Amino acid sequence: MFSINTSSPDETIRLATCIAPFLQKGDTILLSGELGAGKTLFVSGILAFYDKEKDASSPTFTIVNQHDLTDDLNLFHFDVYRLESSDEFLAIGGDEFFSKGICLIEWGEKIKDVLPQKYLEIRIEKDATDENKRNFNFISNDDRLNNIINEILINWRNSK
Ligand SMILES: Nc1ncnc2c1ncn2[C@@H]1O[C@H](COP(=O)(O)OP(=O)(O)OP(=O)(O)O)[C@@H](O)[C@H]1O
Ligand SMILES: [Mg+2]
Repeated sequence: MFSINTSSPDETIRLATCIAPFLQKGDTILLSGELGAGKTLFVSGILAFYDKEKDASSPTFTIVNQHDLTDDLNLFHFDVYRLESSDEFLAIGGDEFFSKGICLIEWGEKIKDVLPQKYLEIRIEKDATDENKRNFNFISNDDRLNNIINEILINWRNSK
């Protein structure tokens, strides 16, 4: 696990654009963190890298929003906050998206038992004293995703 701090919404967007180039079809990213932590803003940063809409509206009522990043790469943006259980996620066919593109899942910790075996968790923590600071923790059980984490760190340092 390693962590990166951001001190403003713009810095969080910049962090997301450092990560975006490493993501590929079949990658699953679980975004955790309390209300207003910055999960949706982080997704906006991924979209910004692809010159897509800068504003990722939270798919709270639709559960999933699809964004076509390139001709052959899709991003599926989930918000599973309102789901009662993992079974409900399966009932709406949520797991069918995992192999079809990059899946970013807000509140994904609620459905951990039905996520693919390999995923990257990004845990966003608010700062106790500064309302514009966030701590991003990266955790993965997969070799490729762990290598990506190292690349992200290098990219992030070089982008400053
Ligand atoms: N360093 C920062 N990184 C991210 N967001 C920040 C930061 N500093 C302040 N903010 C603000 O925090 C808010 C984050 O909102 P966002 O909708 O992304 O949260 P969320 O985690 O998706 O919440 P929810 O669980 O309700 O979906 C925004 O208003 C943003 O401007
Ligand atoms: Mg959100």
